[in-house]
Amino acid sequence: MKEHQLRVLLEKLSLKEKVGQLVQLVSNFYPDLDGKVTGPMVEMGVTDELVANSGSVLGASGARQIKKMLRKQLEKNRHHIPLLVMADVIHGYKTIFPIPLAMGCSWDPVLVEKAAEISAREASVSGVHVVFAPMVDLVRDPRWGRVMESTGEDPYLNSVFAKAFVNGFQGKDLKNDLNRTAACVKHFAGYGAVEGGREYNTVNMSERQMRQDYLPSYKSALDAGCRLIMTSYNIVDGIPASANQWLLRRVLRDEWKFDGVVISDRDAVRELIPHGVAEDEKEAALKAVKAGVDIEMMTLCYTHHLAELIDEKRIPESLLDEAAWRILKLKNDLGLFENPFRGADEDREKELVYCPAHRNMERKIAEQSCVLLKNNGTLPLKKKQKLAIIGPFSNSGDILGAWSWRGDPNATESLSGAFKSEDDFEISSARGSGILERRPELLNEAVETANAADLLILAVGESPQMSGEASSRADIRLPTCQLELIRELKKQHKPMVGVLFNGRPLDLTAWIDDIDALLEVWYPGSDGARAVANLLTGKANPSGKLSMSFPRTVGQIPVYYNHYNTGRPPSENPNTKKYVSKYIDCPNDPLFPFGFGLSYTNFGYSGLTLSSEKVTDSVSIDVSVDVSNTGTFTGSEVVQLYIRDVTGEVVRPLKELKMFKKIVLRPGECQTVRFTIDEPMLRYYHSDLSYRSDEGSFEVLVGGDSVRTLNKPFKLRKVWGADS
Ligand code: NOJ
Repeated sequence: MKEHQLRVLLEKLSLKEKVGQLVQLVSNFYPDLDGKVTGPMVEMGVTDELVANSGSVLGASGARQIKKMLRKQLEKNRHHIPLLVMADVIHGYKTIFPIPLAMGCSWDPVLVEKAAEISAREASVSGVHVVFAPMVDLVRDPRWGRVMESTGEDPYLNSVFAKAFVNGFQGKDLKNDLNRTAACVKHFAGYGAVEGGREYNTVNMSERQMRQDYLPSYKSALDAGCRLIMTSYNIVDGIPASANQWLLRRVLRDEWKFDGVVISDRDAVRELIPHGVAEDEKEAALKAVKAGVDIEMMTLCYTHHLAELIDEKRIPESLLDEAAWRILKLKNDLGLFENPFRGADEDREKELVYCPAHRNMERKIAEQSCVLLKNNGTLPLKKKQKLAIIGPFSNSGDILGAWSWRGDPNATESLSGAFKSEDDFEISSARGSGILERRPELLNEAVETANAADLLILAVGESPQMSGEASSRADIRLPTCQLELIRELKKQHKPMVGVLFNGRPLDLTAWIDDIDALLEVWYPGSDGARAVANLLTGKANPSGKLSMSFPRTVGQIPVYYNHYNTGRPPSENPNTKKYVSKYIDCPNDPLFPFGFGLSYTNFGYSGLTLSSEKVTDSVSIDVSVDVSNTGTFTGSEVVQLYIRDVTGEVVRPLKELKMFKKIVLRPGECQTVRFTIDEPMLRYYHSDLSYRSDEGSFEVLVGGDSVRTLNKPFKLRKVWGADS
């Protein structure tokens, strides 16, 4: 439809019909899908008329069902305005990719873009128009269950992945490429900083910190063309995101010039009441619409009160028109007026969804996402051994992780299953315990199984329900029954390899010293077990690097690599050991730092060279470093470049990731890896919130993780030659 035709359509809509466009209900409110408008829905105030006028639906899928639903709704809608179908496709539709935190550890935006492309293809042929992803909240607190949805603790890495996800979902020509979906970046903003890691809790941070660390990833998604953004549940400087005019109008619309759709998170408009900033639903509607929330997800404050607010002249009708326009425009940009079903196609759905090609790609990504955290040479597994795979994940296909509603754990291969086709090993397995419950009979059986084996693989971890939304944990150790299992197996004095299934960094201190090797596999997805088997047996070589630090204990949280120095850093005060910034019962550093991950080979770094010791506004520095594979396996290495701003106008992090390159080296091979440092990379937010660089001393740090680096100083001068 031409833009002027769309304007004409908007003008024809009654107030009620315009408000309808702003309403999003879940799919079972739509009679011809699964359910009927009955019981609690009627109590909520949902009527057939509202359903007919509604603008979008959440959580529907399946080409046949969706087409039926859309057809029915089109008939009922006076202007035949198509419905937008949105769904939580976070790390895959039916082919489930590793959880986003795991994909973050791949440090491979090309593969992540591919994962998003496949997710969009499967979702689109199944009738979905908009996916509620990427989730780009910066996360520093592993108690928060939703860290599994994020790519980690670093603003730069998150921004790189935000862009990759958006490009993968949306492609280059959203209107005509029916294999793509619109993306909705979330949760705007700062949700990852909930106090104490407790879900839905308060967020409190300075505007400077928000701009420096938390906002860049959302901005990156929008710069890549992301069509929608979802508000977060938390407050931002005292005002809930869904009512926050500073956030949604000043930053998002005025500064960033975003002209796409803003959708509230589910129930978030009504939640302005318990937050304590709205007295009732009417005030909630008033505040949300004034802030610029276009779609209200699953509550009916807009439905019941927007017309009244306009009548009372408390808001101009133009506010409603603006919101309805953006929604209609999105529908038009997706081509829904010409083809309301878009990519929905039963035949292609059968052919494409969960097809071998998608699963193969999934396996490849999973291989890149697992992180080898410890290895004394036990891995890769030597052939001809008798392996006992023991633990609650030994025979479980429940390894897809949260947010995999179309994934099927029962159809997913378990680790033992994946080893069945390995002829080089003799395999036995035992559960040993539940995830949370102690089962003495299982423990005894596991001890017997272990007895007969040469090497024990401990398949342990958290259940997928222990992370994700509404799954914060105050204790991030392995459940007690699994710790007991490990202790009992330790008595066998056999080599033990840990394989950890989890949605967050865990406190591993109690058992890390008891095992010979540890592979962090997160929730590795549909073909993840095969990927893990390939890594354990050496068919693939681990290359993942942590995108979030692992604390030694919950008491250290938040522990992250890009922290400040403080006035009393322990390293600089060896003579005043007591009065330094530290704990008396635990080191400051994490158990495993950001960027860390082992390989079956070793990489040597040497010859860090800078083309100049000085960067200016117009002259950059070329950095080179020689990386060599000094081991016996071909392997991938993520070469990471960090910068430290030694003195700033405000305190600056000890180091910040600025660039990285992933390279593959054969044994004995050496590669010179090059980067360029320029002035924009040295900018930061000052106390007056200006974003600029200052002259002064910097340090470049290059290495295979955030700790073991080669370092060189350099300076920023505003004018060449003005050096002293
Ligand atoms: C609540 C979650 O916070 C959000 O991430 C999700 O997209 C919506 N529910 C819709 O399911």
